[in-house]
Amino acid sequence: MHLALLVCAPALFVATLALDNGLMRTPPMGWLAWERYRCDIDCDSDPKNCISENLFMDMADRLSEDGWRELGYVYVNIDDCWSSKERDNQGRLQPDPKRFPGGIKKLARYLHDRGLKLGIYGDMGTYTCGGYPGTPVEKIEIDAQTFAEWEVDMFKYDGCYSNATEQEQGYPLMSKALNATGRPIGYSCSWPAYQGGLPPKVNYTQLGEICNLWRNYGDIQDSWDSVLNIIDWFFDNQDVLIPAAAPGRWNDPDMVCLTDMRLRRKKRVKYFLLSDK
Ligand SMILES: *[C@@H]1O[C@H](CO)[C@@H](O)[C@H](O)[C@H]1NC(C)=O
Ligand SMILES: *[C@@H]1O[C@H](CO)[C@@H](O)[C@H](O)[C@H]1NC(C)=O
Ligand SMILES: *[C@@H]1O[C@H](CO)[C@@H](O)[C@H](O)[C@H]1NC(C)=O
Repeated sequence: MHLALLVCAPALFVATLALDNGLMRTPPMGWLAWERYRCDIDCDSDPKNCISENLFMDMADRLSEDGWRELGYVYVNIDDCWSSKERDNQGRLQPDPKRFPGGIKKLARYLHDRGLKLGIYGDMGTYTCGGYPGTPVEKIEIDAQTFAEWEVDMFKYDGCYSNATEQEQGYPLMSKALNATGRPIGYSCSWPAYQGGLPPKVNYTQLGEICNLWRNYGDIQDSWDSVLNIIDWFFDNQDVLIPAAAPGRWNDPDMVCLTDMRLRRKKRVKYFLLSDK
């Protein structure tokens, strides 16, 4: 099994407004499918590794039975390629019926019964990065409602196939729509990663008011070079990034844990945690 931390806390906070949903007062920790399992949907020849309810139930068992939950690793997060290629006849997203026969709500219950939380994935554009139905502006309300009905606890909103204008409109709208469901749902925004991660294009004051965490930079890959590349970028831009974070609002280096970026460069890798067996 492969476990990775989502994000850890910078040491210092400045007093800032955060998205007021009461969630993620400390950085979220857990497990996310993408880095290792990608868009593997071939359950016939690769049943153990394909994106299916079995994979997430298996990870839930590991987090709850092997001591991870007690350390704070409570999120089990679905990434891309979970849905059917078509919405249902009422226009709602639906999971792939073959790979998620029990449905998302049942999966959420499985996690909740074990003291864990379920995250799900969507995309601002017409399509997700993997080519599944997206959640463009006109679908935001219905999809937020669907996730709430499924008792999902966190939502990652990716940005493939959307432009800057749509993102400017969509990311705040989704924040409002999630709030309007009445269910506290942690909100992870990929917006800054699509805008270069830095001001003036990225407004971290605004992000902190609408998102609980945000992806600032590119995806982590399955290599040490990628890990170092991400750490270097965060190190080089720490003066902008550190003040952006506070309880309820976090930078997300994509599963890398950066505890205190104000380190001498030579020592920086010591503060990175990623476990992989
Ligand atoms: C919605 O926003 C209001 C005001 O910011 C906040 O008090 C409330 O807790 C939020 N509700 C949810 C479910 O996030
Ligand atoms: C962004 O996409 C929309 C269509 O969804 C289009 O109307 C608009 O012109 C695009 N804006 C830019 C700046 O490309
Ligand atoms: C950034 O966002 C904040 C809060 O929404 C807003 O008050 C401020 O004017 C924005 N800054 C810029 C440079 O757009």
